[in-house]
Amino acid sequence: MATTITLIPGDGIGPEITAATLRVLRAAGAELEYDEQQAGLASLHDRNRLLPDETLESIQRNRWCLKGPLTTPVGKGFRSVNVQLRKEFDLYANVRPVKTLFPGGRYEGIDLVLIRENTEGLYVGVEHFIGMDRDPRAAAESVMIITRFGAERIAHFAFEYARRHRRRKVTIAHKANILKCTQGLFLEVARDVARAFPEIECEDRIIDATAMYLVLNPYQFDILVMENMFGDILSDLMAGLVGGLGFAPAGNIGETHAIFEAVHGSAPDIAGKGVANPTAFLLSACMLLDHIGQQEVAQRIRLAVEKVLSSGQVRTRDLGGNASTDEYAEALVRALV
Ligand code: NAI
Ligand code: MG
Repeated sequence: MATTITLIPGDGIGPEITAATLRVLRAAGAELEYDEQQAGLASLHDRNRLLPDETLESIQRNRWCLKGPLTTPVGKGFRSVNVQLRKEFDLYANVRPVKTLFPGGRYEGIDLVLIRENTEGLYVGVEHFIGMDRDPRAAAESVMIITRFGAERIAHFAFEYARRHRRRKVTIAHKANILKCTQGLFLEVARDVARAFPEIECEDRIIDATAMYLVLNPYQFDILVMENMFGDILSDLMAGLVGGLGFAPAGNIGETHAIFEAVHGSAPDIAGKGVANPTAFLLSACMLLDHIGQQEVAQRIRLAVEKVLSSGQVRTRDLGGNASTDEYAEALVRALV
């Protein structure tokens, strides 16, 4: 029985990496059916809405969604569709595995997982300008919100994830030395949660030092858990450890729904040129397959990715190669066993 998922190809390079990904999924025998929907710029043009009701209803119904990158127009009045989707379905955990897929990069054998709180922190969007004298924008204020409930469930998710995947350690990354209330609460709650998982080593580190140690010696880490914006920033840094944004998949997970997407955005600088690397999006689809019980298909695809990248013959431009998105997808299909 095929599982129906919502598919949002997205903006910029979205349609190109989606086409490549669907081709590999089909060839690998993924039992999926696609309920294709629009969001982002594509739907702003067609229906004057960044996030149409049909799209929300589709995700509500199907529960699982594979989503391409969405461009958030800069400026007033546009809330990030990504942030809205995470809120709408309460996708509180953003899971971002960072794994070496081929030799010859900056590091070998990296295998880390970043778990980012996805609904609170500074990204709640509580911000405003403050006028003074005749300047209506003399100052600006953003509010960082951390709740005991939010900190507890993300910490719990991280330790549960560690237990289920037989991982050894969880690092709580924070800034409790400066932000005594918000970050202090996050740290306190996460340390409390850790007590229920005695078999998993728990440490905490200041976020800036964590960034440095990730570059100096990433092997000392295993699973990292942190609040929203820190997680946003460090996930791009961590993608850099394994070859860049082209290799970083993600899952936004809630109690009932989940949306899988690459960490990267719509890459307007290379959109339409047929050169984007579809690996991150394809690996996000693999996370979806894992999530719905099709681990074997996911594993077959991952092996094909490793095989093609390791042989070094067919690589996209971000890796210094000259294969197009389609040529790379073609090579992946041939490498499937
Ligand atoms: P970006 O991630 O789109 O691009 C950053 C750099 O990485 C660019 O040089 C791009 O060419 C390169 N890159 C990204 N993905 C690649 C791929 N698959 N293959 C080869 N190269 C790749 O970030 P940027 O430029 O800051 O944002 C562009 C737009 O995407 C913005 O509107 C932003 O709001 C949106 N965005 C959406 C996200 C989402 O839908 N989850 C996440 C991040 C950004
Ligand atoms: Mg980001």
